[in-house]
Amino acid sequence: MRLEQVHKNEATDLAEEVMARCRKLASLSEDPNATRRTFLSPPMRDVHREITGWLQPLGVEVRLDAAGNLRAEYPADGIAPTLLIGSHLDTVPNAGAYDGILGVVLGVALLQVLSGRRLPYAIELVGFSEEEGVRFGTPFIGSRALVGRLDEDLLNVQDSHGVSVRKAITDFRLNPADIGRACVSDNAFGYLEFHIEQGPVLDNLGLPLAVVEAVAGQSRLEVTFVGRANHAGTTPMDLRFDALAGAAEWITNVEREANAVSGLVATVGSVKASPGAANVIAAETRLSLDVRHREDSVRTQAVQKLIHRAEQIAQRRGLSMRSSARMSQPTVAMDSFLSGQVEEAIRRTGCEPHRMVSGAGHDAMIMAERIPSAMVFLRTPGGISHHPEESVRLEDVEKAIRCGLQLLDQLAAALQKRTTLA
Ligand code: HGY
Ligand code: MN
Ligand code: MN
Repeated sequence: MRLEQVHKNEATDLAEEVMARCRKLASLSEDPNATRRTFLSPPMRDVHREITGWLQPLGVEVRLDAAGNLRAEYPADGIAPTLLIGSHLDTVPNAGAYDGILGVVLGVALLQVLSGRRLPYAIELVGFSEEEGVRFGTPFIGSRALVGRLDEDLLNVQDSHGVSVRKAITDFRLNPADIGRACVSDNAFGYLEFHIEQGPVLDNLGLPLAVVEAVAGQSRLEVTFVGRANHAGTTPMDLRFDALAGAAEWITNVEREANAVSGLVATVGSVKASPGAANVIAAETRLSLDVRHREDSVRTQAVQKLIHRAEQIAQRRGLSMRSSARMSQPTVAMDSFLSGQVEEAIRRTGCEPHRMVSGAGHDAMIMAERIPSAMVFLRTPGGISHHPEESVRLEDVEKAIRCGLQLLDQLAAALQKRTTLA
């Protein structure tokens, strides 16, 4: 039986199970009334347990690598290349139920349909431990381990409590010394990531699925304004060195700059003022800056311009300013062969394949450093994401399952053809 001939009601049942499982995992959180799951936090162990419980009946061996990535091997017939299917298990604060998680749970569903059938390649399901960059301000900790870039600098980065990445790994009872063994194996021939679009494009087009041509580059920085604390009631306005007022002026500049450049997005998502009392003029304000554009030169020029504006504002106000780059990730093109296969699979699923660039970052942009990578986007109703109202449509999840099964068949045929041609 060709995989994609799975019966319609089976695909619908699977899609309902996928969505229920995503909602279940969303309840495994650091916060009682919202979804938040950061790098190797306690709820992550519950997520590993749930996914392991779904995989064990399929005869799939599950392990954690030293970076806390869940790694599950579905064997081939004998020695064979490996296709990786995955996404991330961590979330932003007050998250929705599908960002990242859906790509892993969809991978489980594909293995369920396979259930024992052997392909001419193995499948490794990967649940990355950290992609969002929430706890340490630096994203992609999980996938960087698979491409050999979880280095000493990153291991020494500390969170707001002074806990380093290295310490977080040992606290999770993993051994940082084994990180080198987390690297993706040389026989991996591709990485496939199903992910929600997280924007309005597919919803506006009325389409369920898309092929991701490239993932837009992003810069993440921390910018700090330093002034002088003083009494809010006794200090005249012209004698202040107000670090929060300076930051506020700069934030409006960030928004103005992004509005002025087509396709540029720039965001200050986090502002921490200290000492943080209503009757004390802020001595220091620590801000995050997230800048993205599909053209790296536009993004890097925008970052330079915004840092220069911060320096000017600080100087005029008698403040000091410092900035530190947390990441400068270039735009990454997805693999043309695999993307062509995705496009064909979407078409054979009966959908019009839309090609687009992802504004959101994804593990695929890191994995592409080592192996050919491709992404399948699912429509995000209302374009709402990084929000509890993030959602997917049941019929789109069903189509994604069919597309995935179609793709597995296509890759099997392509590998067998390549083997006979070799
Ligand atoms: O922020 C992003 O681009 C993604 O959601 N990690
Ligand atoms: Mn996200
Ligand atoms: Mn994501």
